[in-house]
Amino acid sequence: MTIFDKIRRTLQELGVSDAQGVESLFAELRKAAEHERAELVAGGAPQQAERDGLCKALRDRWLARKGGFLSQVDENWLKPASKELKPVVGKQFNKLRRFTASLEFEKLVEALPFQQETAPQMELPLGSGAGRPVPRDLTLPGLRRPLGSIHPVTRMQREIEDIFLRLGFWIESGPEIESTYYNFDALNIPESHPSRDDWDTLYIDSKTVLRTHTSPVQIRAMEKYGAPLYIIIPGKCYRHDNPDSTHSPMFHQIEGLAIDEDITFADLKGTLDFFAKMLFGEKVRTRFQPSFFPFTEPSGEVAVSCFVCDGQGCRVCKESGWIELMGCGMVHPQVLRNGGIDPEKYSGWAFGLGVDRFAMVKYDINDIQLFFQGDVRFLEQF
Ligand code: DAH
Repeated sequence: MTIFDKIRRTLQELGVSDAQGVESLFAELRKAAEHERAELVAGGAPQQAERDGLCKALRDRWLARKGGFLSQVDENWLKPASKELKPVVGKQFNKLRRFTASLEFEKLVEALPFQQETAPQMELPLGSGAGRPVPRDLTLPGLRRPLGSIHPVTRMQREIEDIFLRLGFWIESGPEIESTYYNFDALNIPESHPSRDDWDTLYIDSKTVLRTHTSPVQIRAMEKYGAPLYIIIPGKCYRHDNPDSTHSPMFHQIEGLAIDEDITFADLKGTLDFFAKMLFGEKVRTRFQPSFFPFTEPSGEVAVSCFVCDGQGCRVCKESGWIELMGCGMVHPQVLRNGGIDPEKYSGWAFGLGVDRFAMVKYDINDIQLFFQGDVRFLEQF
């Protein structure tokens, strides 16, 4: 008979008639409570919601007013106990109540991650003088560590990187704290340009900024490697933006840059069309529209036909049939010169895209803030 069968009977039915018998019954019950708690902590229900549910279920199992184990003990052991046994049972019952309260079933949800962090405890190296080892119950089940998952922005970034790596590009990076020279001047962005204003850019001092885009790494890479050059540059960028569902003061970009002899706009179109088909499916079409960036001439905006509705108009493309992907253009001759490359010999194309925006479109997420709040209930869906 398990302890849970025993609490459905009276002490008389169980043939328990002395203090010792009562005490050992209660001891058995406390042990069971402790064991169930340990099992839950170790149990590795990976989903937060599932864990919440399990913790609540454990609480109800023991403490529910109707039919909980403690109320069964009250009904079947305490109330019908004989006059002589009642003080012992009462005392034990109070002890059990304090004990189950101390197990904090409901707070287990919060306790779980910390348990995972600190346990199993490492044995201290011999001679570290850290005192006696803590006795541990080695028969308890082990602690399962929940596996993390790849952050959706990282996942998107890797997917994009993979496509360009296959085309022979390599990955370059540069500093997030950047000089105004690389972030602006070398890219043909004049002193009077609005993006240089305090309201758009986070300045460290008058000559140093948190980079507002990944484009400065174009110049750094030209200086470092010269031509020919085929690179993509993923990284974090920063702007003086108030957080809302489409803006974040920190966000991610990927820059592309191809410099070689005889590079033309046709190479740009062909590469980006291939990229869009790899990422969104064979049947998508790309659209190039004229635009302006100080560091490219001519400049363009690339859109892709909506991969959900095939251009018919839906929620994802905001009924337009098209999804804006990125800015691009032929590298301005002055920018090549600033990077130490002879524009008479070499030409190049470049693009810049927002990784967070790509991830929002691809995974149908309507609030960019979700990426950066660190809520596991959001993150564990990926
Ligand atoms: N740096 C631009 C931005 O942050 C994006 C961009 C547009 C990058 C065109 C490029 C490009 O390399 O050719 O808005």
